[in-house]
Amino acid sequence: MNENKALPLLFAPLKFGRIELKNRIVMPPAATCLGEDAKLDFYVTRAKGGVGLIQLPPGSVDPASEYAPSVPLYHDQAIPTLARLVDAIHAAGAVVSIQLWHGGRQLHVSDSDTAPVAPSPIAWSRGSRVPRELSIPEIEELIDKFARAAVRAQSAGVDFVEIHGAHGYLVSEFFSPQSNQRNDGYGGDIPGRARFAVEIIRRIKEKAGEHFPVSCRMNGADNVAGGLELDDARAIAQTLESAGLDLISISAGVYGSCPTIVPYVDAPNGCNVPLAEGVKRAVNIPVIAAGRINDPRLAEEILAAGKADLVGMFRALVTDPELPGKAARGEFAEIRKCIACNTCTDALDLGPIMCTVNPAFGREKELAIVLATRKKKVLVIGGGPAGLEAARVAALRGHEVTLYDKKPRLGGQWLLAAAPPHKQEFIELVNYHTQQLDKLGVTVILDKEVSPSLVEEIKPDAVVVATGAVPLELSLPGINHHSVSNAWDVLQGDVETGKSVLVVGGGNVGLETAHFLAEKGRQVTVIEKLKQVGTDMGGTVRFLLLRTLKEYGVTIARSTELKQLTPDGITVYRNGQEEVWPRFDNVVLAVGAQPLNVLATALKDVVEELYVIGDAAAPRRAVDAIREGAETGCRI
Ligand SMILES: Cc1cc2nc3c(=O)[nH]c(=O)nc-3n(C[C@H](O)[C@H](O)[C@H](O)COP(=O)(O)O)c2cc1C
Repeated sequence: MNENKALPLLFAPLKFGRIELKNRIVMPPAATCLGEDAKLDFYVTRAKGGVGLIQLPPGSVDPASEYAPSVPLYHDQAIPTLARLVDAIHAAGAVVSIQLWHGGRQLHVSDSDTAPVAPSPIAWSRGSRVPRELSIPEIEELIDKFARAAVRAQSAGVDFVEIHGAHGYLVSEFFSPQSNQRNDGYGGDIPGRARFAVEIIRRIKEKAGEHFPVSCRMNGADNVAGGLELDDARAIAQTLESAGLDLISISAGVYGSCPTIVPYVDAPNGCNVPLAEGVKRAVNIPVIAAGRINDPRLAEEILAAGKADLVGMFRALVTDPELPGKAARGEFAEIRKCIACNTCTDALDLGPIMCTVNPAFGREKELAIVLATRKKKVLVIGGGPAGLEAARVAALRGHEVTLYDKKPRLGGQWLLAAAPPHKQEFIELVNYHTQQLDKLGVTVILDKEVSPSLVEEIKPDAVVVATGAVPLELSLPGINHHSVSNAWDVLQGDVETGKSVLVVGGGNVGLETAHFLAEKGRQVTVIEKLKQVGTDMGGTVRFLLLRTLKEYGVTIARSTELKQLTPDGITVYRNGQEEVWPRFDNVVLAVGAQPLNVLATALKDVVEELYVIGDAAAPRRAVDAIREGAETGCRI
């Protein structure tokens, strides 16, 4: 019997086939690029945290569909490593599945002689390679490969397998009328487009046993012109259910609508729930809904409204592995919430994923909280992301911590990051730290600038300087002729601009300032001296922001540098040519930042244990600052 009073449905068990889940919380699959040991620690930490079902990231069914973070399930050699991971997750109390994946036309094929394969020879984007159409014998071989991969996963001990039929990979390409234009038995109407998946399900059941459960992750909508839409998804789901499918997981998006696969903060919470609900109405097997569900109370509402049977929370469990336990105890304010900044997914292009909110992600053992052997008096100067995290971790380790900030409010530059439209949820990060510091007994003193003499008075054992940065200024001829301010002042609401605004600098801050102003009805022009804008941003976030700025009619001039301001206008160098532009009401500078580290220099010979972290060391992204905060908190 479920005793949980606050969230009775979330903590109700669910049976499907021979599987019994202890609750409705699912960690859906995601490639992480973590090494084997880090991956094991990552999943075991989540299983210990109480999640009912862990869905492991893709296992590749075919050597021709290789992808660094995937498990090579096309080979028996994958079994021992997978078995070790599965055993560890089982021992920690969760049910485990793995995804069976083939990349289809979205696969990046480095060999120029080998084209990717797909149901039809249609590239997923204008710039990508045209895939080769699969022949019927090749399709039959692939069906067998999916089934053989399932058997390998079964022998490694997984409780069930999930066919990756979402996000524009091979199986999803068969479902979509945009990517599947075959006129043989594997295309055309719903039974034709579902046939590849139907035969995979049947073959897995033949080889792994009728009672070995099979799930399919599929899109409720592809979110591209001509792609899969909800009505088709419902009909396909019914067809798969008739073929023996045991569970269905609903997601959305393909590479052509990429940010909808991992929705950014501007998407509503639970953005795919209407799709999951639509599919649930068409089938009798359990349905998982995922996408921007970062609060267990929202999860409970989804279940209570009968919109899904299980709730997928990937990023919410990255940011807080303890979420299930905290939810069960009703400790909602204790939950470290995902803010959907997409740092995780954008990092995947370069290596292991990272998390802005939870620096211990992927480094669970290294950054585990261990009580300090000697309690120290710790002074943290600066209440931005780095200082807040250093104070939190140091206090958790048993130190006596005092944090000073010269501003009346905690958050530092993070308050600016939360200012642009649709980013208000970013403030959750500061709210969490504020609440934690209070709970941990950290003394927080606001509106007070720390001087070296104050430090001498306090006599701390360790000082953490996290004083942040200041915006860079430009000294240009005629700068006084215009109303010039910096982006930080604009974002914090200290400067009201006129109708026409020139933003100088097309990095993250410049582009977000342009968005902030455009939303207020200003006519905005951004100039950037580099050939590209947003080079300091992650791919999905840059894509979304540039699309929004285009919708607002913001002009972006690349390879353009401001040279001087005159009473009547401005002079720029654009692609090496001098141009004179008419006057703007305001010029807003977003040309970078420099460390504010005067105090660090002054304290160098005064304090024995001194740490300079975050932007005070070198201006960088918040994910770096927060990571340094955690590392410093662990080191003191
Ligand atoms: C870094 C990253 C990698 C992902 N890789 C996969 C994947 O391999 N297979 C899959 O079905 N979904 C993948 N996803 C999507 C997630 O399973 C999930 O649907 C998505 O993150 C939205 O849910 P959330 O808001 O709870 O994170 C990935 C997500 C992220 C952030």
